[in-house]
Amino acid sequence: MSSQNTKGKIAVVTGANRGMGFEACRQLGKLGFRVVLTSRDARKAKEAASKLRDEGLDVVAHTHDVNDPQSAEDLASFVESEYGEVHVLVNNAAAIFDIEEDDSTSILATSKEALTRSFETNTIGAVLTAQALVPLMKKTGYGRIVNVSSGMGGITEMNGGYPGYRLSKAALNASTRVLSEELKNDNIKVNALCPGWVRTDMGGENARLSPQEGVDTTVYLSTLPDDGPTGTFFRKRAPILW
Ligand SMILES: NC(=O)c1ccc[n+]([C@@H]2O[C@H](COP(=O)([O-])OP(=O)(O)OC[C@H]3O[C@@H](n4cnc5c(N)ncnc54)[C@H](OP(=O)(O)O)[C@@H]3O)[C@@H](O)[C@H]2O)c1
Repeated sequence: MSSQNTKGKIAVVTGANRGMGFEACRQLGKLGFRVVLTSRDARKAKEAASKLRDEGLDVVAHTHDVNDPQSAEDLASFVESEYGEVHVLVNNAAAIFDIEEDDSTSILATSKEALTRSFETNTIGAVLTAQALVPLMKKTGYGRIVNVSSGMGGITEMNGGYPGYRLSKAALNASTRVLSEELKNDNIKVNALCPGWVRTDMGGENARLSPQEGVDTTVYLSTLPDDGPTGTFFRKRAPILW
């Protein structure tokens, strides 16, 4: 899709006060999107959005905690009253709750709390945000939902350790398939991606990719044409095995 077609379209990004969410807002803004930058912390959302506005981008802040269903409803009401439509949702917010103790983060040592919190944020949060915004996409007859997942949630390349993160990302991948099937006749594409190992608070300073490189596939999936893929897992703009 050319930047012509993205001009004025509305994009919502979760977990966007820092890291790849913030960078996705910047790159989408540069393509002409009107961006709703969300964070669970109102002050952080405002500061981050104001930084991007200083760069000349059309970015507004909104508070959204993906763990709170009411927050998703409030976000949808805000988007509807402000813009009347939404074209892109980037489900980017996530966290790692696996506690690094002496003997690593084994599935044999994890707690119910770590598993539950992982699913609440990394899986259910994305589903609830989509639930709130899909009605608006249906009204417009257009939608691109981008689930920022991880190779750590891929069954094919599954390894040991980080059970909460791995299981919750595998479930996010499954939700991508379910949602894409349910929306396949609505011109709403739902895809997941692995950004690679990226220099953010989560990825650490030794990671290979810059945040800008890390969001390349997110931006690509946010701007898919109407005949583009849905229900697919991507890395470096190419499909990979789930
Ligand atoms: N970095 C990597 O190497 C890597 C690799 C594979 C996949 N990923 C995925 O890429 C995405 C972005 O990661 P990142 O590296 O940019 O991580 P990050 O720097 O740790 O940023 C995570 C973001 O998610 C937000 N968040 C956490 N819980 C939230 C909640 N309940 N509600 C709303 N926002 C919440 C954080 O907000 P606060 O500031 O309030 O905590 C922060 O803005 C994630 O989905 C991650 O799993 C990252």
